[in-house]
Amino acid sequence: ARPEALPRDLAGRKVVVSAGGTREPLDPVRFLGNRSSGRQGYALARIAAQRGAEVVLVAANPGELADPAGVDVVRVGTAVELRDAVHVAAKDADAVVMAAAVADFRPAATAEHKIKKGERAPEPIALQHNPDVLLELVARRRSGQVVVGFAAETGDADGDVLGYARAKLARKGCDLLVVNTVGDGQAFDTVDNVGWLLSSDGSEWAIPHGSKVHFASFVWDAVARLLAS
Ligand code: CTP
Ligand code: CA
Repeated sequence: ARPEALPRDLAGRKVVVSAGGTREPLDPVRFLGNRSSGRQGYALARIAAQRGAEVVLVAANPGELADPAGVDVVRVGTAVELRDAVHVAAKDADAVVMAAAVADFRPAATAEHKIKKGERAPEPIALQHNPDVLLELVARRRSGQVVVGFAAETGDADGDVLGYARAKLARKGCDLLVVNTVGDGQAFDTVDNVGWLLSSDGSEWAIPHGSKVHFASFVWDAVARLLAS
């Protein structure tokens, strides 16, 4: 959509968007990461700014993506850095959208020097949990603040994508959950997106296949409705 065609329904609001994928260092040159490109989060930030919001974009390893116009971009690397930046920005925010792919685990230790190949069989990598930023946001949420999670699901033998997503919405306690089907070249590092939007009041919408800008507009429509109610 052209900016002039967008509603200004987020004017006077402050929103926080996290984007990209965290990288958890093993040593000075290696990390555990994921395939998130940051494009969906960047589209969310850009559209929010065009709809009038003051926007803080917490960007985890967004590569070559250009800073969206009129958006305050805070660059982070790891999940712990992302968590700190999101909580600072979320303090006085009306809405927080967690589009970032936050690593669930990090290496239990980061080697100070580059790990050498050596001659014996390699050691397994010990992992520890990262904080769950979305859960923390919900626990700290100020009154009226809208918290939005993203769920990346593949489905498996134990459940389908929507079944897992409904359980995730209940577990996380956020107001809205955006659901993407991932794997098989879907959602991560792609241009287009498709999915569902689930609300804590039980409403569910299919988000038709389209650009990440279109997808972002669908999400902000729902956030704006909640902020207005
Ligand atoms: N998330 C987070 N902190 C983490 C992991 C995830 O804030 N340490 C957020 C993501 O930004 C996303 C939501 O939680 O908005 C759901 O992420 P997802 O990976 O789908 O869910 P998990 O709870 O990590 O469950 P699992 O990976 O086991 O499916
Ligand atoms: Ca996860």
